[in-house]
Amino acid sequence: MAHLLITGGTGFIGQRLCKLTLAAGHRISVFSRRPAQQVTRICGASVAVISDLHQIPHLPAIDAVINLAGEPIMEGRWSTARKQILRNSRIDFTRHLLDTLAKCSSRPRALINGSAIGYYGDCGDKECIESSSAGTGFAAQLCRDWEAEAQTASTLGMRVCCVRIGVVLDRDGGALQRMLPAFRLGAGGTLGSGQQWFSWIHRDDLCHLILYLQQQKECRGAFNGSTPHPVRNAEFTRILAQQLHRPAVLKTPAAALKLLLGESASLLLDSQRVIPTATLASGFQFQYPELPMALDAILKK
Ligand SMILES: NC(=O)c1ccc[n+]([C@@H]2O[C@H](COP(=O)([O-])OP(=O)(O)OC[C@H]3O[C@@H](n4cnc5c(N)ncnc54)[C@H](OP(=O)(O)O)[C@@H]3O)[C@@H](O)[C@H]2O)c1
Repeated sequence: MAHLLITGGTGFIGQRLCKLTLAAGHRISVFSRRPAQQVTRICGASVAVISDLHQIPHLPAIDAVINLAGEPIMEGRWSTARKQILRNSRIDFTRHLLDTLAKCSSRPRALINGSAIGYYGDCGDKECIESSSAGTGFAAQLCRDWEAEAQTASTLGMRVCCVRIGVVLDRDGGALQRMLPAFRLGAGGTLGSGQQWFSWIHRDDLCHLILYLQQQKECRGAFNGSTPHPVRNAEFTRILAQQLHRPAVLKTPAAALKLLLGESASLLLDSQRVIPTATLASGFQFQYPELPMALDAILKK
């Protein structure tokens, strides 16, 4: 049985991760800004809750830290102030977390840190693998700086894995939850040209990947957390509409999205054709590698 410290445990990814971790027989401590009662309701009754990073040295020895904390990137326009909040909640938070871990008499052996495929920027039709260079733009810089901060844990003797997470799909959160109402009404459609690549992952596959990387002692560095079969936005739209037995003929022009969302429209319009080369080479197997089977499993739940 391992003891994992999870930050962001109450989030869309974190809450499923907590359930799978507890089901695998591990012990969890969750850092959260919320009342402990709310955290145990979301993450599981047996979870230990800390609300201050300074409590970490007083916890029983931690085997690994899974760091997913970060303010939601899709909420609101990216004003200068909002950008600072997005950066602080990831980069500064990770620095404080590592400063505290440095004070522990017995340090965790591994840090599994969040990142995103936004790391690669807007790549058109080019395939992005873990060794591809970082792109440009706010999201790319954010991911790059977050990963760089996380990597400093190696100076504490910790093994570091950064998971470049694709668009996480499940029904009760994330991008799909936002899309489903319109698609169910037959008002779904393509975004921009529809030609941009959409790299996605089923939420269960992502959580299993995080736990797999925590267990595989030889894994370190960047791992793409998206399936080997990305699709174009138009293909995603067609498959989702087909599964819901609804038409999806509307097109939202890129200019309208940019007007509405400003710079953050890049999250919907940038093209990222991500291939999880290092993830597959590590021996990880996706349970839902293809979009139709993933959506079928999600929508039937
Ligand atoms: N979902 C996706 O499709 C996706 C794709 C790529 C990357 N990611 C990244 O993966 C991570 C987790 O994603 P998610 O979808 O689970 O996010 P989420 O549902 O928005 O949850 C974020 C979590 O971060 C914590 N948090 C937020 N602001 C914080 C702050 N200032 N200080 C400390 N903790 C803070 C929250 O914890 P409390 O409220 O309990 O304190 C919450 O549990 C995020 O960094 C996200 O950018 C997600």
